[in-house]
Amino acid sequence: MELNEFLRSLDDLANQAEQELSAANSQEAFEEARVKFVGARSGQLKALQKQLGALPKEAKKDGGQRLNETKNRIQSALDQADQRLKSNAANTRTGPQVDATLPGIRQHVGRTHPITQTIEHLKAIMGRLGFAVVEGPEVEDIWHNFVALNIPEDHPARDPLDNFYLGLAEATSKEAGDQAHLLRSQTSTVQIRVMEQQAPPVRIISLGRVYRPDEPDATHFPMFHQMEGLWVDRNVNMAQLKSVLRLFANNYLGGDVHIRFRPSFFPFTEPSVEADFLWNGNWVEFGGAGMVDPNVLRAVGYDPEEYTGFAFGLGVERLCMGRHGVTDIRDLYRNDLRFLHQF
Ligand code: PHE
Repeated sequence: MELNEFLRSLDDLANQAEQELSAANSQEAFEEARVKFVGARSGQLKALQKQLGALPKEAKKDGGQRLNETKNRIQSALDQADQRLKSNAANTRTGPQVDATLPGIRQHVGRTHPITQTIEHLKAIMGRLGFAVVEGPEVEDIWHNFVALNIPEDHPARDPLDNFYLGLAEATSKEAGDQAHLLRSQTSTVQIRVMEQQAPPVRIISLGRVYRPDEPDATHFPMFHQMEGLWVDRNVNMAQLKSVLRLFANNYLGGDVHIRFRPSFFPFTEPSVEADFLWNGNWVEFGGAGMVDPNVLRAVGYDPEEYTGFAFGLGVERLCMGRHGVTDIRDLYRNDLRFLHQF
């Protein structure tokens, strides 16, 4: 091969590489050009390099020099194209393009559930009346849910059909004895827990969930909340019970609310009453109450000759529903935002 021909081939190759690489607009096109011009096995530069050896001896020096120049030109064309493609990729956003300066859509702000609001309200009122707030576990043992509350083994309140016993079906109150556990059916359990822990005087409320296997309807739900109250001291009497409930009702419902006691029975109070509030012209039952039974005081090691006390248990849902005009307890637990946003 003539030297001139060789040099022209080299120049043609460099020109062609520069042109194609500056036009490459994708990584694939770049890669294709790279293999075509400088690929180690079948690149065109490689092919010309082989022809260097076929040049006349005196032409080899010039040919070799031009070959190096050609290599450098192609390499710098590759570098430029590579830079250009990389910076394009960095500038091209993937995904939706968002203008963060445009006004947005108003999101709903979460708020406290009506039952939680009621609980906070009740705590505030009872706090002003001098009652401290305590908590107790929702999974209870037989001692705290029944035995210490003077509910004997054969009492119908212990029936497996009326309670959520935990564990096997056979682990009912009878077979498992006092080892059985259940979801507490009342917050009166907390009375026992508090009195076991401290000496009188005691003036507490406890608010929390209780569980009974009731078929849900407008007034029943298998889980609901109670506010338990307990005041034990020397000379606590029934008139004070009525005063506290009346003050509570006036505070919670507003105005001068009449209350009435109807005789009733609970194993853990004697005497026992149902407490009704006169609300919008109707007597509405809000829960049970009474003087703490001496057997209960004895069970926790208090001397019933020295101390007396009263206790009450009010339904939180009923208080909440009455105040807000809710007529179906299930509305509270449907998680329907259209309902919940109203509170
Ligand atoms: N624990 C009773 C119930 O769940 C209510 C109550 C509490 C009654 C305290 C008297 C004293 O129905």
